[in-house]
Amino acid sequence: MSTPHNNANIGDIADRVLLPGDPMRAKYIAETFLEDAICYNEVRGMLGFTGTYKGKRISVQGTGMGMPSMHIYANELIEIYGAKRLIRVGTCGSLRNEVHLRDIIIALGATTDSNMNHDRFGNISFAPTASFELLQKAYEEAKKERVKAIVSNVFTSDKFYDDKAREKNKLVASYGVSAVDMETCELYTLAAKYEVDALTMLTVSDDLVNGGCCSAQERQSAFCHMIQIALEII
Ligand code: HPA
Repeated sequence: MSTPHNNANIGDIADRVLLPGDPMRAKYIAETFLEDAICYNEVRGMLGFTGTYKGKRISVQGTGMGMPSMHIYANELIEIYGAKRLIRVGTCGSLRNEVHLRDIIIALGATTDSNMNHDRFGNISFAPTASFELLQKAYEEAKKERVKAIVSNVFTSDKFYDDKAREKNKLVASYGVSAVDMETCELYTLAAKYEVDALTMLTVSDDLVNGGCCSAQERQSAFCHMIQIALEII
């Protein structure tokens, strides 16, 4: 059985899945870190691969950008293909002075300006949170590898080009939110719904406080540290 967005048959996808937003990153991760990786999906160019890492069967699936796209891929991975442990490996913009380019953010929870959870919960403001087990392991692994990792709330924003970005970013930062992405809130909400484990790890690619962004090479090497941690702990 396949879905409108995924050609994989049941059993083609491992129950542990890394989720980069960019499908080309999925290809890069599969080719660089996995053994015997096989591409199981090319629908809409949203590449997915399954291989092994130190004997563990692991898949890596592109999710696209934004909560609606994450909603489609995470839903199908969990409901149709039986994914149990999902780690988003993405990039983010920094919102606070102490957060620097190439730092790794481990998302404890997600604040959002999206309407998706208003639609689900009405008057109740649901608080989407990470899997404690995955979060603890990721933090310990980063410490062991002497990689700086900041555990924090993140802001899952609906708009990359937002007329109100400055005000929104300043407001949430003043409540301790370190970084902005566009997917975590929906991943954590679906993980809660389906009772599976999810975590978001992000490398800071854009400094939204002082300006600046990583070169492609800096982005790649910081990203590789994060992938290594995610693969060890998933
Ligand atoms: N905004 C939202 N998501 C992001 C950004 C950003 O500036 N950079 C990387 N992911």
